[in-house]
Amino acid sequence: MKRILAILLTVVMILSVAGCKKGNEEPNNNVTSAPTTAADPTKAPTDAPAPTDVPEPTSEPVNPDDYCLKDVFAEHGMKVGTCISGQMIDRPAISKIITENFSSLTCENAMKPDYIFNRNKSKETGDLVVEFNSEALKIMDYAKENGLKMRGHTLVWYSQTPNWIFKEGFENSGDFVDRDTMLARMESYIKQVFEQLEALGYIDLFYAYDVVNEAWMENGTMRQNNWSTIIGDDYLWYAFYYADKYAPESIDLYYNDYNEQMKTQCLLKFVETLKDDTGRYLIDGLGFQAHLYTEDSLVSYFRLVDAIAATGLKVQLTEVDIQLGKWQHPLEANDENFKTQGKFTYALVNGLFERVDNGTLNMDAFTFWGVTDSLSWRAEYSPLCFDKDLQPKYEYYAAMQLRDYAGFDD
Ligand code: GLA
Repeated sequence: MKRILAILLTVVMILSVAGCKKGNEEPNNNVTSAPTTAADPTKAPTDAPAPTDVPEPTSEPVNPDDYCLKDVFAEHGMKVGTCISGQMIDRPAISKIITENFSSLTCENAMKPDYIFNRNKSKETGDLVVEFNSEALKIMDYAKENGLKMRGHTLVWYSQTPNWIFKEGFENSGDFVDRDTMLARMESYIKQVFEQLEALGYIDLFYAYDVVNEAWMENGTMRQNNWSTIIGDDYLWYAFYYADKYAPESIDLYYNDYNEQMKTQCLLKFVETLKDDTGRYLIDGLGFQAHLYTEDSLVSYFRLVDAIAATGLKVQLTEVDIQLGKWQHPLEANDENFKTQGKFTYALVNGLFERVDNGTLNMDAFTFWGVTDSLSWRAEYSPLCFDKDLQPKYEYYAAMQLRDYAGFDD
């Protein structure tokens, strides 16, 4: 009976994704090398064992060319995204993969604080002036033209944020401004971001926005930065208060962080502080960056997912990398390791779909941090769905739950 149900389910899926015609890529997993990029030592994973408990086959063989990521995720009410740069748009082969497979984009850099202020105008007016750069505009136009939605990333962060926004006269050499001035600047900044997206006709692209990125350390303490030094620890509350005040209802507000599985208790406590005086949450969801390693424990990862989901807040995976090996020990980009990566990805996505489908997890988007290993910030760990020759890997089929193509040997 179970088997008949499984076959029926597969037929329904095939029918529903039949519209998803792509180029005739065959699975090809022969990546032999990847460029080296320095990894961020603050993002070390746990040394827990790899998952062994992967689900059993549930489907008859299928034609993988009939599938694309966005249709499979849509079956579960989810968008699937990638980070994006202008460079990716300019490469037709990458752009083709994006428009065929993804339903959501996150600017890899273009909407970070380093890129969205106009310093001269700030000096002239005496207030922080937000001005999106040409790359951000290009990406938003691309999203519009291709019917893609966007995650905004990111407003308040310790990194990739100019020093001068914290200083008297917007001068790097100036003193830090006082708390009230910085709160006023923060409010004006957040207000302008949403006002300008509206004025420029882009606001409807956005369904989620990272209000604060990476504020907590693995030991449960708050990361000290210019925001906390000037405003105090309640800078976090104010960031969400202003975002809640100025963002339209249609945009969910997120806190986003890495090494999330080491921060479960801290995040649980944190979200309870993000309420207004009527007890209403100022935050809609938690973004887990998911810069994962194939040697991470999915058991502990799902412990985190379940704990946060139990609060009723939304969860998104926002920067997914499935890196070969473990922290500082990348494994070789070969078929065997790609199979391990496929199995890991299959189990991860399977666990998420299961929870979303049974109503225990409110997750509406899953974002990979890129398309091809060659352009990944973690290129030496070959973490993405397409290899350096833009061929799909087991990971790609695994994300679509096509078990026969996901690297399993049986
Ligand atoms: C963090 C940030 C991202 C990006 C990555 C590295 O995860 O949230 O915006 O900078 O680091 O690409």
